[in-house]
Amino acid sequence: MNNVIKRPRRLRDHENLRALVQETRVSTADLIQPLFAVHGQDIKREIPGMPGQYHFSVDRIGAEAKELEALGIKAVLLFGLPEIKDAAASQAFAEEGIVQQAVRAIRKEAPHMLVMTDVCLCQYTDHGHCGMVEEGRILNDVSLSVLAKTALSHARAGAHVVAPSDMMDGRVAAIRETLDAHDFQHVSIMSYSVKYASAFYNPFRNAVASAPQFGDRKTYQMDPANRQEALRESALDIEEGADILMVKPALSYLDIIRDVKNHFSMPLGAYHVSGEYAMVKAAVAAGLLDNDKVMVEILTSIKRAGADLILTYFAREMAQYLKRE
Ligand code: PBG
Repeated sequence: MNNVIKRPRRLRDHENLRALVQETRVSTADLIQPLFAVHGQDIKREIPGMPGQYHFSVDRIGAEAKELEALGIKAVLLFGLPEIKDAAASQAFAEEGIVQQAVRAIRKEAPHMLVMTDVCLCQYTDHGHCGMVEEGRILNDVSLSVLAKTALSHARAGAHVVAPSDMMDGRVAAIRETLDAHDFQHVSIMSYSVKYASAFYNPFRNAVASAPQFGDRKTYQMDPANRQEALRESALDIEEGADILMVKPALSYLDIIRDVKNHFSMPLGAYHVSGEYAMVKAAVAAGLLDNDKVMVEILTSIKRAGADLILTYFAREMAQYLKRE
């Protein structure tokens, strides 16, 4: 009997042995904290449904980045809430736009922080779509020049990495070409290559008032049922010049993260999105889940699936947790 039973439990017997054979470990250096910039002064306002996440005015966002830097976080991903939305998305590429101002503030006050910016139009258009609209259609090629202009203005403000999240065809190439033509060859593109038309974005859309005013995003974001399409989208972005790929959301798409990682030797990000974060926080508030244990399990599973970088609203909390451990 004794020599037929195989005993995998042996490796679990001692805590230190478990640590030695642990295959995946999340570190602070894997994490990217999203930040939201707003106009106004002296604002740090909690975002409804996303406890621990805030709107920061430009005069306070640098201090936040500095604190994250002190915790060991390497990068932030910036979003902005403009004061004016219009059909042309004019505040997306304005020199004094909210993201442009916030980039400059962070670069100044947290000089070691890597600054990434989300490049999209939905926060800046009055209809809330990620591209230009004509007669109810989201126009692809017309949107490309606006997206490229937006990315260029972020680079001019000091962004190190631009992250297009609009899902227009050809946007990575358009952005790369424009950046290169203006001597920003050193600015990287982290493409939201595999972005699904997900129901998990609602808390974010409320936070930045970017819900589409008509229709939905299904003509540009991907169908959650599709797996092979994720590989086609990734291949196109690599061809167009993306430096980092991304899958979004994360938890319902761990299989996609693994597929993309297996197929392409590219750095891969995964975005653990607002709804995924809000679900945990709501369950924790209801006394149903242990915040730290669930946080660690989720982030570990995203990394185990194949993500090299994790964009998550838990970044700050996880960094604090890792510091305590
Ligand atoms: C903009 C954008 C969205 C998110 C990141 N960039 C929303 C959307 O596509 O509707 C979602 C982020 C989150 O839910 O945390 N296009």
